[in-house]
Amino acid sequence: MRSFVGARAIDYNHAMTPRLLVTGAGGMVGSYAKEIFTDHELILTDIVDGLPRLDVCDPAEVKAAVAELKPAVVLHLAAATDVDRCEQEPDGAYRSNAIGTQNVALACQAAGIPLVYVSTAGVFGGDKPEPYIEFDAPRPVNVYGLSKLAGEQIVAALLQQYYIVRAGWMIGGGPRDKKFVGKIARLGSPTYARDFLAGIQRLLPTGQYGLYHLANKGCGTRYEVALKVRALLGRPEVEIVPVSSAQFPLPAPRARSEAMRNLKLELLGIHARTWEDALQEYVSTELVPLLT
Ligand SMILES: NC(=O)c1ccc[n+]([C@@H]2O[C@H](COP(=O)([O-])OP(=O)(O)OC[C@H]3O[C@@H](n4cnc5c(N)ncnc54)[C@H](OP(=O)(O)O)[C@@H]3O)[C@@H](O)[C@H]2O)c1
Repeated sequence: MRSFVGARAIDYNHAMTPRLLVTGAGGMVGSYAKEIFTDHELILTDIVDGLPRLDVCDPAEVKAAVAELKPAVVLHLAAATDVDRCEQEPDGAYRSNAIGTQNVALACQAAGIPLVYVSTAGVFGGDKPEPYIEFDAPRPVNVYGLSKLAGEQIVAALLQQYYIVRAGWMIGGGPRDKKFVGKIARLGSPTYARDFLAGIQRLLPTGQYGLYHLANKGCGTRYEVALKVRALLGRPEVEIVPVSSAQFPLPAPRARSEAMRNLKLELLGIHARTWEDALQEYVSTELVPLLT
C-alpha cells in the first residue's frame, strides 16, 4: 500500500481552527470526538437520531455535504460493524463499508482534502504467532473484514492524502459498548476508543499519510481482559469461566489472533500506553460511575 510521505499537510499552524467532518459520529468511537478534538471545529453526522443526517451510502448527499461544509479533513467512522450481520447480509456490508467509503473518498478527492478511514485488525487471517504489523499481508476470514479491506483498497487507490488507521478490539462507550463480547477472536490488542482518537489527533498534523496500526500496547485474550476488569472492579467473588470459542456458534468465522503492533506510529515517536493502563482508566472513569 502506498504511503505519501511529504505530501501537503493541513496547515495546523494557521490561525483558523481546522474543521473536521465526522461520519458515523453517533457510534461508540464517535462518542469521544468532542472530548478529544477540542482543537478542531467539529461537524458530527450520522444516520441515527440526534445528529445531523449524512448517509455515506448516498453519493450525492456525501459530495454535497463535503462541498458545502468545506471541512479541512474528514474522519470516516460510519460503517456496518455487526460482524455476524455482515456475514448474513454481505450486500449490505459491502454497500456500507466499501461503497460508502468510496463515496466519502470521492467527495474528498473532489474537494482536495485528506481522509481518515478507520479500519480494523479484522483484516488479518489470524495465523501469525506474533502481533501483526502494517507490512503483513491482510487475509480476512469473514465478510466484515473483507468489506473493511475493500474500503482500505478504495481509499488508497483514489486518494493521495489519506490515513488508514486500523484499530484492535475497541473498548469504550460505556452503555454504547455492544461489541466487546460479540467479537471473540482468541487473541487481540484492546484499543481504548479515547486513546484511539487521541492517536489520530496526534497523527493528523504530521502529514505522514499512509496506513497505520493504532491499538493499545500489548495483547491479551478475552479471558485475560475479563479477569482484569474483575480485578479493577474489586469483585473477586464473580466467577469467570474460560470457554472455547467453539462454544459460541456464531454466523461469522473469527480469526485466531487479531493482535497488532503499532510499528509505523512507534517509528514516528507516537507511543500508545498499555491496554492494562487504558482499561484501568476506562473502568474507573466510565464503568464504575455506571454501576454506582
Ligand atoms: N468497535 C470496534 O471494536 C472496532 C474495531 C476496529 C475498527 N472499528 C471501526 O471503527 C469505526 C467506528 O466503529 P464504532 O465501534 O464506533 O461503530 P458503531 O458504534 O457501530 O458506530 C458506527 C456508526 O455509523 C453509523 N452508520 C452506519 N451506516 C451508516 C451510513 N450509511 N451512513 C452514516 N452512518 C452510518 C451507525 O449507525 P447504526 O447504528 O444505525 O448502524 C453508527 O452510529 C468503524 O469504521 C469500525 O469498522 C471498530
